[in-house]
Amino acid sequence: RATGRHPGSLLRTLDLDAHGLLELVRTAGELKRERAAGTEVPRLTGRNIALVFEKSSTRTRCAFEVAAHEQGAHVTYLDTAGSHMGREESVEDTAQVLGRMFDGIEFRGFAQETVEQLAEHAGVPVWNGLTDSWHPTQVLADVMTMLEHHPGPVDGISLCFLGDGHGNVGRSLLVAGALLGMDVRIAAPRALWPPDDVVATAHALAETSGARVLVTEDPELGVANADFLYTDVWVSMGEPESAWSTRVPLLTPYRVTAELVAATHNPDVAFLHCLPAVHDRTTVLGEKVHATFGLDGAEVTDAVFRSAASLVFDQAENRLHTIKAVLVAALGR
Ligand code: CP
Ligand code: NVA
Repeated sequence: RATGRHPGSLLRTLDLDAHGLLELVRTAGELKRERAAGTEVPRLTGRNIALVFEKSSTRTRCAFEVAAHEQGAHVTYLDTAGSHMGREESVEDTAQVLGRMFDGIEFRGFAQETVEQLAEHAGVPVWNGLTDSWHPTQVLADVMTMLEHHPGPVDGISLCFLGDGHGNVGRSLLVAGALLGMDVRIAAPRALWPPDDVVATAHALAETSGARVLVTEDPELGVANADFLYTDVWVSMGEPESAWSTRVPLLTPYRVTAELVAATHNPDVAFLHCLPAVHDRTTVLGEKVHATFGLDGAEVTDAVFRSAASLVFDQAENRLHTIKAVLVAALGR
């Protein structure tokens, strides 16, 4: 029986050290250039990859599928409705079975424990495509996008995440920023700060990396002189829809508006968002937020989202290149 996680796994944002993280981003850059030049070489020919999803996805699923396909691998998509995992069959037994058939497994879902259990028993690399706790592959694309748009080394970057600092994306950015020596800030109401142990980890990392770590309730202090403003949806997948009624009043001061962008006092500041975003009324959720709270957009205004400062679609594209780098690093021939 396979026990113990494969070293090619990526389960938590801090599974990588600074060198490992930057190396994946560098590989992603090379793969991006190869793809653009039409000279991409398949390094995953004959590999089989399982994509297990308990939650919805556009970017992560498509990035894994296209990355695998372009590198010569085959993917199998499994969702909870169409497989036995977690209902008729335990995560451990599922891991044993998938590990006998596949060379690697991506998992997106609720509990961090599930992806860790899969990794413990599959015997092949397991990659976390988002859980309630962490979103490590997102951070790779975020760092890549920041480095593409910011001259100089990563430790010269200042980043402020605004809004739900407790969520998978906010806390992933905090620890990754601290690991990489960045000036990293979370501006959020105290009730939505990252868990205490995550903030403590960020401070501990900063002692070695030279990072500056700030967790504040003051949005203007958070954004001052920042190079990048980043926000995420105010209510994440798996949280009850009723949470909107408390989150909207709590998070409105952290909404990324033109005024908050101006408060950076940085004419070159750029805007990031992992997506999907509530920025107008063209979605069911955006329409509901408007009908219930009278807001056009939630965590970011449409004007900022569509502004020249917004890098969100570069960031989305970079999910492909960075996830491809993860696959090639773990399984490349
Ligand atoms: N950013 C992100 O993970 O997007 P998806 O939910 O579409 O995968
Ligand atoms: N925090 C969001 C991220 C989506 C990519 C969620 O978990 O729903």
